[in-house]
Amino acid sequence: MPKQSFKLGLELRKAKKKLIPSGVDAPRMDADLMLSSVLKKDRVFVLTNPEYALTRKQSKKYRRLVRRRLGREPLAYILGHTEFFSLNFFVNKNVLIPRPETELLVEQALSHCTTHSSGKLSVLDIGTGSGNIIISIASNFPKAKFSAIDSSAGALSIARRNADFHGLTDKIRFLKGDLFAPLKKLRRSKFDLIVSNPPYVALSDARTLQPEVRRYEPRQALYAGRNGLLFIKRFLSEAHLHLNPGGMLIFEIGFGQANSVKEILESERRYDSIEFVNDFNNIPRIVKARCYG
Ligand SMILES: C[S@@+](CC[C@H](N)C(=O)[O-])C[C@H]1O[C@@H](n2cnc3c(N)ncnc32)[C@H](O)[C@@H]1O
Repeated sequence: MPKQSFKLGLELRKAKKKLIPSGVDAPRMDADLMLSSVLKKDRVFVLTNPEYALTRKQSKKYRRLVRRRLGREPLAYILGHTEFFSLNFFVNKNVLIPRPETELLVEQALSHCTTHSSGKLSVLDIGTGSGNIIISIASNFPKAKFSAIDSSAGALSIARRNADFHGLTDKIRFLKGDLFAPLKKLRRSKFDLIVSNPPYVALSDARTLQPEVRRYEPRQALYAGRNGLLFIKRFLSEAHLHLNPGGMLIFEIGFGQANSVKEILESERRYDSIEFVNDFNNIPRIVKARCYG
């Protein structure tokens, strides 16, 4: 019997033919990247070696990944990693896939750290997920002290793995629990900077989300009650207790939440210089507020 051949070019064409009409966002790139991952070669290799022969095992594996993507599983979960702030992060179904707009939060946090770095700064991340925010800050500003909290054990295990991968295991203290609760056991529970990308999707918006998000990303990373503000309200009612005088809050919000968040912050009567930073679509996305005590 003639040996079956699995030519790279043919495998790729077949995958693209299925993915293009399926509604996924970037079918060609996804097909290339999944094949790169199976072959452990870069995308240029995949695009320039159509005659390369895959083994039967590689071909089977590739087709399995393509089927997962056709079922709208996010590419990052299929590959097991993604890029954020030019760093590589492991991800799985226990963590939100880091989003580009959250890089703005990291930029703001780093700019705060560099302009307020006279003493040793302490930074806390609430809802750390994959650890993308705190690890990106710690990688670029290692002289601060870092803590991060999440209520999901699965998320914390990925965050720890990412910290280890970036050589930051000893720099970041990861704690499990609800909001600020894990700090009760600690001697020092006040910080100079608290950052967060909280869950902020309104339950009523669930059906407007892409299938990748709605079906695969963790519910507790996405939803925050009927209007999406439940977590932020709880977070803001306690944050001041954990900020040193003059300490900063920098956190992300959802589309259309700026006015409500400003009202909540003002009603707390603890913050001055409340500022919003717009994202690439000119939508207020990052909130900065200074706590005066
Ligand atoms: C929107 S995700 C952000 C993840 C990551 N920081 C990022 O930017 O991609 C929110 C995170 O908050 C965590 N979370 C949800 N409710 C929480 C709570 N009550 N206390 C602590 N963490 C919570 C979720 O497990 C999730 O990891």
